[in-house]
Amino acid sequence: MAYQFIDVRTEGEVVGVITLNRPKALNALSNDLMDELGAALRAFEADERIGCMIITGSEKAFAAGADIAVMAKYSFADAYGGDFITRNWEVIRSIRKPVIAAVSGFALGGGCELAMMCDFIIAADNAKFGQPEIKLGVIPGAGGTQRLPRAVGKSKAMDLALTGRMMNAEEAERAGLVSRVVPYDKLMDETLGAALQIANFGRLAVLAAKESVNRAFESGLSDGVMFERRLFHSLFATADQKEGMDAFLGKREAKFTHR
Ligand code: HXC
Repeated sequence: MAYQFIDVRTEGEVVGVITLNRPKALNALSNDLMDELGAALRAFEADERIGCMIITGSEKAFAAGADIAVMAKYSFADAYGGDFITRNWEVIRSIRKPVIAAVSGFALGGGCELAMMCDFIIAADNAKFGQPEIKLGVIPGAGGTQRLPRAVGKSKAMDLALTGRMMNAEEAERAGLVSRVVPYDKLMDETLGAALQIANFGRLAVLAAKESVNRAFESGLSDGVMFERRLFHSLFATADQKEGMDAFLGKREAKFTHR
């Protein structure tokens, strides 16, 4: 499929890379861009060869948020009735394979929320995160007031949502929003390295690990621990469990078949 606002490619035949490509508006998330992103994620999800995905942007911007030029004219009926932007966010939530955000430059508003919808964030040292919606007379609308406090705690989430200030990569790593910070010129190598590693592990274990970590945000501890235990037990029914443990004991590299 030909896309206008994103570039799509595969790496090593097992990693799907989606690059947001609307440079004139710093990758502002228009409905068209979000529709394309949703379609590309669904296509990689359905492609059996793909084991991990990456969403990235340009050096200057991962994404500077929802498209203010379009949004400015919206009425309540347009926003609520049209389920503005959020319809594709549910697509992102439904993706079972891991999705990594590789963030350089601005990740603001919906851009920060998009990064937070990914399973983890690797940031370049020039990355800037923020929820500046308050400056526009609105509030975050795609999870910013919900995922940010879970990632960085109440105080910093309130600070960012109420003042609209940006935090740099170092602060974001300290706060727990991002998992790694690397120099900009290493961003794609580092992210691809992680993605290839994930894609080459046993797929069923990878899906289970993602599902189980996500469960931590949706359940109490004892329910979450039980959910994890049952998934853990179920993985003993897979060929990859036999292969992974045999390979360890045989001091050789495991060859997972995703079965
Ligand atoms: C539309 C945008 C945009 C956006 C930047 N541009 N952000 N267009 N929507 N969110 C456009 C600018 O208008 C400009 O176009 C071009 O991109 C370059 O931006 P500049 O402002 O000239 O660049 P710079 O001075 O470097 O400043 C970068 C910036 C600033 C700090 C990122 O652009 C900025 O503050 N952008 C808005 C960030 C924001 O408020 N995001 C939250 C949106 S609300 P021209 O044509 O002039 O060159 C949101 C709600 C989500 O995301 C809800 C989800 C449901």
